[in-house]
Amino acid sequence: MIRIFLIGYMGAGKTTLGKAFARELGLTFVDLDWFIEERYHKTVRQIFLERGEDGFRELEKRMLHEAADFEDVVISTGGGTPCFFDNMEYMNACGETVFLDVEIPVLFRRLKAAKQQRPLLAQKNDEELLTFITEALAKRRPCYSKAKYTFEADKLEDRQQIKDSVKRLKDILKLS
Ligand code: S3P
Repeated sequence: MIRIFLIGYMGAGKTTLGKAFARELGLTFVDLDWFIEERYHKTVRQIFLERGEDGFRELEKRMLHEAADFEDVVISTGGGTPCFFDNMEYMNACGETVFLDVEIPVLFRRLKAAKQQRPLLAQKNDEELLTFITEALAKRRPCYSKAKYTFEADKLEDRQQIKDSVKRLKDILKLS
């Protein structure tokens, strides 16, 4: 039975790599944010607005436990998932955890283009965004570093890079 959790900061490529990886191995793919949105019929942004971040984190934990019941699955978590409650320990206990590590300039470039759907970033200008990413990553890194594997995920910009990354991840996880 295979159960893999992809963790890392927003923009690290958890969804991009997770989807491609699950397809390659014939596994089910679950994106935790989408799973939450489907269940509650609301976007993450709406949930943040209505319940605040604390309320969102409670739902996120609950849905993480549900998703972690699936077998033969790749689960892309949210950027904050491993850093609240005992979520990281929980994931380590029930599957393989992979931290997608990405250089700050790459995260900045990706998130500048895709910040609107992310409530923690939407209102920030470029300078604020860069500072926020740098500080948040420094705070979260100790928690991400508890993952069983670390994977450099800077190169996910086109189909070939994604294919190469899938192969590299398969090798690391000894699933080749
Ligand atoms: C968050 C990351 C988001 C989402 C929410 C909060 C975070 O997920 O869960 O907006 O705290 O880093 P992605 O990492 O998939 O963008």
